[in-house]
Amino acid sequence: MQEILAKLESMRAGARLGGGQRRIDSQHAKGKLIARERIELLLDEGSFEEWDMFVEHRCSDFGMQSQKIPGDGVVTGHGTINGRPVFVFSQDFTVFGGSLSEAHAEKICKIMDQAIKVGAPVIGLNDSGGARIQEGVASLGGYADVFLRNVLASGCVPQISLIMGPCAGGAVYSPAMTDFIFMVQDSSYMFVTGPDVLKTVTHEVVTAEELGGALTHSTKSGVADLAFDNDVEALLQVRRFFDFLPLNAGEKPPVRPCSDPVNRYDYSLDTLVPSNPNKPYDMKELITKVVDEGDFFELKPNHAGNIITGFGRLNGSTVGIIANQPMVLAGCLDIDSSIKAARFVRYCDCFSIPLVTFVDVPGFLPGTDQEYNGIIKHGAKLLFAYAEATVPKVTVITRKAYGGAYDVMSSKHLRGDVNFAWPSAEIAVMGPKGAVEIIFRQDAGDKAKLEAKTEEYRQKFANPFVAGSRGFIDDVIYPSSTRKRVCRALAMLANKQLKNPPKKHDNIPL
Ligand code: HXC
Repeated sequence: MQEILAKLESMRAGARLGGGQRRIDSQHAKGKLIARERIELLLDEGSFEEWDMFVEHRCSDFGMQSQKIPGDGVVTGHGTINGRPVFVFSQDFTVFGGSLSEAHAEKICKIMDQAIKVGAPVIGLNDSGGARIQEGVASLGGYADVFLRNVLASGCVPQISLIMGPCAGGAVYSPAMTDFIFMVQDSSYMFVTGPDVLKTVTHEVVTAEELGGALTHSTKSGVADLAFDNDVEALLQVRRFFDFLPLNAGEKPPVRPCSDPVNRYDYSLDTLVPSNPNKPYDMKELITKVVDEGDFFELKPNHAGNIITGFGRLNGSTVGIIANQPMVLAGCLDIDSSIKAARFVRYCDCFSIPLVTFVDVPGFLPGTDQEYNGIIKHGAKLLFAYAEATVPKVTVITRKAYGGAYDVMSSKHLRGDVNFAWPSAEIAVMGPKGAVEIIFRQDAGDKAKLEAKTEEYRQKFANPFVAGSRGFIDDVIYPSSTRKRVCRALAMLANKQLKNPPKKHDNIPL
């Protein structure tokens, strides 16, 4: 027996060495951790149960018969994060550049199938040179098998991707179909076609970092939710992030003991909105003052900053927060912000996370650029997402709620459950100045009359009481009481039951 145990230990040691010390050193020299080190940081100490450590590829071409490394370039298994179960795969760049063979794909599929069966999230740590070139189509088939599982798991269990090295070509579509993508600065990139192909086909000269680095995707493209400075920070932040999420669609998000009183007033909020309606203020201040202990996990902070999305907790339970940001583009809705918020709203709805929406929106951003690129279709995504959502929806209008954007931002008409307004709210078809310029177009030269009419319009409509008189607003609240009122609304909604009409699936404007 001792002999067998010794053999097992030596096989395990061989697998743990991956592609060998030279390649491990090279990975470290690039500032990257190796696959197992990453898992150790991500999961609770000692919780990792590794599967398929001895799986090897079955390729015999190009001398591969003699190059077999146990585990075949991906470490898979399950463990816990703060005591809650999670499945993990971590690609090992030291083994054939983390490239995906048929066997490598089978290992990923196996943990995904199991995660769906038991209702636990999947976290993928991606660091791979793409399809295993020596295997050809078998590898492509493997990718498609993973893609299929990404789709089947979508809306069933949370899926998180960390991009911690190369991720190129068709390989990007697996992370792209997961719920959240986090990247590491300077060591990760994602693109469908790389710089060399671009140079040949379009004559564009661009570095891999410029084309698909963490900065590019967390600012320009919005593909990544966040960019972290290094592997360690990324893994520790994902642990923090994981605590906001439920394990599966059948469960509510975890409830944390909350020491922040739900009745806490914040009197500084009574003066947050400036008296000049054209002056911006920072909506994030409101969010951090309302959520438990000021703990807000913002997603895509540097992409479409005119809308804020992220998770916080109220009375210990996770809420998804969506808020217009008056500091960026005056808080207008545009293509990017509509897409960003729509996807977030849909995520929360999939996983029973209540939506809290803070509204200060002057309308949709005007411009040929917006129209030509389809603001109609993209704006409709957000409208659609809010309308179809059946989770508890609490809305607070802090200032402007104009035009179609008023309807879109979780209005009563889209089945908002509790809709509050601050006294500073202006709920109207448009701002007073624009309204008067249209109604009194014939008086364009009469400045005094226009000013008088603008003031009249402001008095009549730039307030929350017209909407309040129709029941579109449930109450006009003191800004300082926002936390208390939203917490009470969510407590009242805790057992909300609402179902959409039966259908195969809807047809959101993609
Ligand atoms: C097999 C691979 C590999 C691959 C890298 N390696 N990519 N082996 N298949 N796809 C191996 C290398 O041979 C090398 O082996 C080791 O991994 C490390 O690679 P290096 O090139 O030394 O590392 P680095 O300089 O950091 O460059 C990393 C890289 C580069 C940019 C990823 O390796 C590269 O361009 N690889 C090929 C990428 C590619 O074209 N993939 C296929 C894309 S098509 P040794 O033994 O020297 O350590 C695709 C389709 C998916 O993915 C479709 C899905 C539908």
